[in-house]
Amino acid sequence: MLANKTVILGITGSLAAYKAADIASKLTQAGARVEVVMTESATKFITPLTLRSITSRPVVTDMFELASEFSIEHVALAEAADVVVIAPATACVMAKLAAGISDDELTCTVLATEAPVIVAPAMHASMFQNSVTQQNLAKLKARGFTIVGPEYGRLASGKVGLGRLAETDKIIDTIGQVLSQGRDLTSKRIVVTAGGTQEPIDPVRHIGNRSSGKMGYALAEAARNRGAEVKLITAPTSLPEPVGTEVVSVKTAAEMKEAVARAVIQADALIMAAAVADYQPKSVAEAKIKKETPTLTLELIRTPDILTEVKGNFLKVGFAAESQNIVANAKQKLERKQLDLIVANDITDPSSGFGADTNKVTLIDKQGNVEDLPLLTKREVADRILDRVVSLLAKR
Ligand code: C5P
Repeated sequence: MLANKTVILGITGSLAAYKAADIASKLTQAGARVEVVMTESATKFITPLTLRSITSRPVVTDMFELASEFSIEHVALAEAADVVVIAPATACVMAKLAAGISDDELTCTVLATEAPVIVAPAMHASMFQNSVTQQNLAKLKARGFTIVGPEYGRLASGKVGLGRLAETDKIIDTIGQVLSQGRDLTSKRIVVTAGGTQEPIDPVRHIGNRSSGKMGYALAEAARNRGAEVKLITAPTSLPEPVGTEVVSVKTAAEMKEAVARAVIQADALIMAAAVADYQPKSVAEAKIKKETPTLTLELIRTPDILTEVKGNFLKVGFAAESQNIVANAKQKLERKQLDLIVANDITDPSSGFGADTNKVTLIDKQGNVEDLPLLTKREVADRILDRVVSLLAKR
C-alpha cells in the first residue's frame, strides 16, 4: 500500500515532534518516499539532519532556500504528494490551515495540494479543547481532512489530558487507509446508524441485543476515508469513536429516530446498520423493580420503524439480519421499507453478523439485482456497500 507512494510528512513545533522520526522511519521502511517539511519551530524540537538521515531525502525547512529540489517551485511538493500528513500538528498550524494562511512551505503545500490531508494534532489539552481550536478542527474536517487523535494521556506539561499525538501505528494505519481509497464520496453527507438500541425497563435494566456496532462503525470510517462528511448515530457499543466523524450517542429506538430525523435533513444517504429493538416496555418503572413475585410480566409495545417512517430525498440503505429465506425476506423488506439497497446476512453463520469481524452478505437493490459477496472483513463489506452507494448517488 505504501510502496512507491510519496508521503509529505509535515512536522510542526510540538514536543511530540520527536515522534515524527519514528513515523518517518516506519513509512520509509514500508517503501514510501517520505518528503519531510518542517516548520521553523519544529526544528527547535528535532533536527532536520535526523529526518534527512532517516528518509535519505533532503528536508525542506525554508521556502526560500535552494538546498532542496522542491524549494524553487513551492507547489512542486504539493503536486508530487499522494498524501500529506501533518504529525504532530499544533493549534497554530491548524488555525493557519483553517484560514488558508500560507506563509511557510508546509502551509503552502497543503493549500496547493489535491492529495488527501491527514492531521494528527498534539498540544496541551486546554489548547485543544479551546472552542477556537475546535472550530478550526471542524473546518478542516468539513474540507475532507482526516483527523487522527489526539489521544488521552500524559502531556508535555506533566498533566494528563486529551492532547497526546496519536500512536505511530495508528497514524501509519490511517495513511494506509486513506491511500487505499479514492475520494469518491467527497462532499457527500452520509448518515450511518450503528449498535443495538437499549429499551429501559427500570432505572437499572434494559432490553438489548447482541449487536457490537462493528458493521456501522466500519461504514462510518470507510465513508470518512472516501471523503464523505459522516454523521454516526450510535447506540451504546464498546468501540472507540471513529475520528473525523460527527458522533451522536443515543440509547433507545425513539432517541435514534429523533436523531436520524434531524440528521437526514441535509443528507445524501442514510445507512441503517443499527440493530433497532422491535419492542420496548410499555412503561418504564420509576424505581428498580423488586423480585417480590415468582413471575413478572412485562408489557411490550412496538418501537417506531425508523427506516419506514423517515422521509426525504436521500438514498436509503437498510440491513436485513435473517436466519432463513434470506434473499426472499430481504427483498420483501426492501419493498416494505422503500429502500434503494438492502444488505442481507445470515446470522446463523458464526463468521457473519453479530460480534464477528467478518461478514458474508448479499446486496439487493431496488431493481432486484442480487449480488452475493464472499466472506470479507466488515471494513471490506463497508467499502463494497459504499461502492454501490457511489453508483446509486451518481444515477440520481
Ligand atoms: O424489520 P427489520 O428489523 O428486520 O429491518 C432491519 C432494518 O430496518 C435495519 O436496517 C434496521 O436498522 C432498520 N430498523 C429500523 N427501525 C426499527 C427496526 C429496524 O429502522 N424499529
